[in-house]
Amino acid sequence: MMENLAIEMRGITKRFPGVAANDQVDLAVRENEILALLGENGAGKSTLMSILFGSYDPDEGTIKIRGRETRIRDPNDAASLGIGMIHQHFKLIHNYTVAENIVLGMEPVNRLGLLDLAAAEKRVAALSEQYGLRVNPKDKIEDITVGMQQRVEILKTLYRSADIIIFDEPTAVLTPQEIDELMEIIRQLKAKGKTIILITHKLKEIKAVAERCTVLRRGKVAGTVNVADVTENELVEMMVGRAVKLEIDKGPAKPGEVTLSLRNISVKNSRGLLAVRNLSLDVRAGEIMGIAGVDGNGQSELISAITGMAPLESGSIWMDGADISRQSIRKRIEAGMGYVPEDRQKHGLISPFTVGENLALKNYYTPRYIDRGFVLNNEAINHDAGQLILNFDIRAGKGALTLAGSMSGGNQQKAIIAREIELSPRLLIIAQPTRGLDVGAIEYIRSRIVSERDKGRAVLLVSFDLDEIMTLCDRIATISRGAIVAVKDAGSVTAQEIGSMMAGERAAR
Ligand SMILES: Nc1ncnc2c1ncn2[C@@H]1O[C@H](COP(=O)(O)OP(=O)(O)OP(=O)(O)O)[C@@H](O)[C@H]1O
Ligand SMILES: [Mg+2]
Repeated sequence: MMENLAIEMRGITKRFPGVAANDQVDLAVRENEILALLGENGAGKSTLMSILFGSYDPDEGTIKIRGRETRIRDPNDAASLGIGMIHQHFKLIHNYTVAENIVLGMEPVNRLGLLDLAAAEKRVAALSEQYGLRVNPKDKIEDITVGMQQRVEILKTLYRSADIIIFDEPTAVLTPQEIDELMEIIRQLKAKGKTIILITHKLKEIKAVAERCTVLRRGKVAGTVNVADVTENELVEMMVGRAVKLEIDKGPAKPGEVTLSLRNISVKNSRGLLAVRNLSLDVRAGEIMGIAGVDGNGQSELISAITGMAPLESGSIWMDGADISRQSIRKRIEAGMGYVPEDRQKHGLISPFTVGENLALKNYYTPRYIDRGFVLNNEAINHDAGQLILNFDIRAGKGALTLAGSMSGGNQQKAIIAREIELSPRLLIIAQPTRGLDVGAIEYIRSRIVSERDKGRAVLLVSFDLDEIMTLCDRIATISRGAIVAVKDAGSVTAQEIGSMMAGERAAR
């Protein structure tokens, strides 16, 4: 074949304890194309890209960059070969400015050998202009949105002259508007001659920007296709090995008594500003109440207050008719509050603990798991974990004994959801439940949420994904600037109407 290949990986194998993350993988990326990499959670996508970026050494296989065989020992090697990677979890320094982060390690210096900040800001502004990546070089990272932080990461690779750019699930953390912007940025990068590898679970995005798609299944290549020649369903079938139904079965809700009642609550954010203002909302047993809104409109502060992680400025929170406003986090859990947090790395799992230990994190002190009054019964813990691993299809190389931090991103998410649903809470609070999950897992998790509802649980769902809100919820509360704009029955409102309320326009009556 005489095409110009930017990257040619051949026979790549990488084994971890209990699993071949990559098994004789061949990957060819043409010069100046956008190639999508698709596969179930744990299929080996991030591992393959970490090998290309020099973070992992493959056990077998060769890599050619622009036709030349190379060994990529570490990310510095990758950078000098013109390879840049946008990781799913950004690696920025929060109290540094945009410009400082971008030039870090390659700073322009003045005659005294010190950082020439003015020169750095000028270069950043020039790059940002050239690629249409809007940022303000002087802003501190902690003050800008996730979408902007991602643009900083992209500029960082461009500053290092990358011409091959790897995106690992870049849209998982973005709002719908930011996703559209990123798709446009990716097209721009291609127009400027870059070669792009895009890992994503969202078929729409593959259809929107990618030319070819390579599909991984359980560590092996299932095939490479021209995106224009296949349907979304065909892609899914290649990925999973069988047809997957993409809709969920959901009957009408049978709402009962009010389970959670928020009465005029106000909550401050970490900078001491009011983020939730005088908000009232009731969530009933047997219904899924969705909170629709653009990121940063008080959603995280609202959830922190309900779960007991942040204090109330005013107002009160009631669960099953009891005032829980001043109760501890553990008391709330014992009262039947389950919580799937938005940031699974920070609040969801303890990485150096095993999957078994993590799955028992909220009930390890209960009689089932305590022997002779004080010793943890690991056998029971691991037995129950094994059941959850099976039910939720959590791909973990060594089962319950796998270290949580070594699982793929999507499988970590499945583990948290399994743990929280297993406790069968009377109230399930769930933030961004399907972020980073493959389509099969999304279908499963959504149907589990519906079946919790049908068992009479109250579900409060926060999601930036309006499609998700529209498919799952029975009632939808739109939040804007810390206040509920309107609460609507899902059947009586369109996505467009919710979208314009999210943007702060007044609800139609
Ligand atoms: N450092 C590690 N130690 C042990 N096992 C690992 C490690 N990194 C990855 N694995 C295992 O290798 C397999 C592939 O993981 P990888 O992260 O590449 O999947 P992925 O396709 O990126 O999945 P996701 O869509 O969930 O991000 C998984 O079974 C994972 O548990
Ligand atoms: Mg991954």
